[in-house]
Amino acid sequence: MSRRLIPLLWLVPAGLVALVAAVLVAQWLRTLPEVQAFLLDYPGETEVPPGTPVGFPWWLQWQHALNAFFLLLIVRTGWAIGSGKRPPAFWTRRNDGLIRTKNPPRRLSIHVWFHLVLDALWVANGLLYFVLLFATGQWLRLVPVTWDVIPNALSVFIQYLSLDWPEHDSWVFYNALQLLMYGFTVFIAAPLALLTGIRMSTIWKPEWRFIPEKPTRWLHIAVMVYFLAFTFVHVVLIFATGALRNLNHMYAGRDDESWIGLAVFAVSVVVMIVGWVLARPAILTRLAALGGTVRK
Ligand code: HEM
Ligand code: HEM
Repeated sequence: MSRRLIPLLWLVPAGLVALVAAVLVAQWLRTLPEVQAFLLDYPGETEVPPGTPVGFPWWLQWQHALNAFFLLLIVRTGWAIGSGKRPPAFWTRRNDGLIRTKNPPRRLSIHVWFHLVLDALWVANGLLYFVLLFATGQWLRLVPVTWDVIPNALSVFIQYLSLDWPEHDSWVFYNALQLLMYGFTVFIAAPLALLTGIRMSTIWKPEWRFIPEKPTRWLHIAVMVYFLAFTFVHVVLIFATGALRNLNHMYAGRDDESWIGLAVFAVSVVVMIVGWVLARPAILTRLAALGGTVRK
């Protein structure tokens, strides 16, 4: 277990107690006439502009699944970096390939090497996603265009928390809370992981290091905690609010209650497990040796 992350463990029981209390408060709130009127005024959907695409294109399905695959291994390698344990091997780039530098390359732990390889793949997937989002108009499903998204998101939040939520048709558009959370994850959390990660690299000369390292590292870890919390709530809600239909949206591009989406999702989980098992030091060091020198 990562030394840096142990202090965060108390968040788990504290979070569970807070959740039960919050459900009770939300259920009580819904008995108040003012809150009932608010939920009627703002049922939780904010209008999307005419012409917003409907449904889930195949590229979005692939990119979403790849994103989950890369993030799983990124979190694992980040965890290993933070553990403070001696890594099983070190990697030094050979300074004779495409990239040549005046200064000799620094030695990296195998965990940092793999973290950076995965980051490059994750960022490439993300950049392509951004390009396709904007090229197809699909971004309109993720970026709120009217201010009523805020009271509507609050309304959805109260409805989810009270464990009594109405049906929304996310095939056509997401509810206001989904819109805000997905938009935040894609346009704020992910770029923040990249920017803080770039600052933590050892390539910067001391005179360029005007952004202090400690808060940057803290923010990088905070983004990871956010991703983990988001994914937990996201997956719980996907399964609690009509698992078959939701999974069909994102894993099969269809809007019905067949079992196909669940089957494709199950295959993606198997791929994640295989990736996890294969990412052993014995295999990683062999891969790393292709582009550098590996020493124990
Ligand atoms: C592996 C487990 C996961 C499952 C089963 C899952 C499932 C889904 C489903 C079904 C939707 C569509 C929701 C709907 O139709 O209402 C969706 C959308 C989305 N998910 Fe996930 N998800 C998973 C992991 C993740 C992770 C790890 C992230 C990022 C940290 C993520 C980020 C998103 C985003 C940003 C969207 C909206 C994408 C768009 O429309 O452009 N998901 N997910
Ligand atoms: C997007 C590109 C990213 C880059 C360029 C990047 C880069 C880095 C670098 C340079 C380090 C420091 C290695 C060292 O201490 O020598 C690091 C550590 C770490 N990264 Fe990333 N990272 C990225 C994304 C992510 C993501 C998405 C997550 C989690 C969701 C993550 C989680 C972590 C964790 C937990 C650590 C260990 C921090 C510690 O305890 O000191 N990284 N990353």
